[in-house]
Amino acid sequence: MTIKPLIILPDPILRQVSQPLEAINDEARRLADDMLETMYDAPGIGLAAIQIGVPRRMLVLDVSKEGEEKTPLVFINPEIIASSDQRSVYEEGCLSIPDYYAEVERPAGITVRYLDRDGREQTIEADGLLATCLQHEIDHLNGVLFIDHISKLKRDMVIRKFTKASKTRGAKAI
Ligand code: NI
Repeated sequence: MTIKPLIILPDPILRQVSQPLEAINDEARRLADDMLETMYDAPGIGLAAIQIGVPRRMLVLDVSKEGEEKTPLVFINPEIIASSDQRSVYEEGCLSIPDYYAEVERPAGITVRYLDRDGREQTIEADGLLATCLQHEIDHLNGVLFIDHISKLKRDMVIRKFTKASKTRGAKAI
C-alpha cells in the first residue's frame, strides 16, 4: 500500500468526470488499498480516486467514530438510485480543499447501488453522516466539489485563495 499525493484545488484534474471500472481485478484492489492508506494518513473520512489523480469511479469511506474499530468501505461504480425528500445540513470539508469548511444541504437519506471490492453488486440505504459522505464522494466522480453547493460569493473567495496559494507554491518550487 502506498500513500499517494493529493490533488488540491484549483487543479483542473478535480473537474474531470471519472470513468467506470470495467474489471474488478488486483489492480483495482490495489487502487482501493492505496486510497484507504492515503485517506487514513491525511486523515480524512472519505476519498475519491480522482483526488489522487485516477479518473475512475471508485471511492473509499470510513465514518466510524474515534476510538471505534475501523470500518473501511469501498464503493466501485456507485449510483444513487433513490434520494429522500427530507434534507439535512452538515459542515463539510474536503482533502482537496484543506482547512476550508462550509455547511452544505443535501438529501438526508439515499440508496446507492455499487460493486464492492470483490466485484459483487450491493445496495446500501444510508442516512446521517454516511449519506452526506457518499454524496460528497459521488460528486467528485462527476467533477463536482462541495463548494459548488455553497453561494457563488463564498465559492469565488475560496477558489481565489487557493489559486493564489498554488502560485506561491509554484514559485517556491523554482
Ligand atoms: Ni472531497
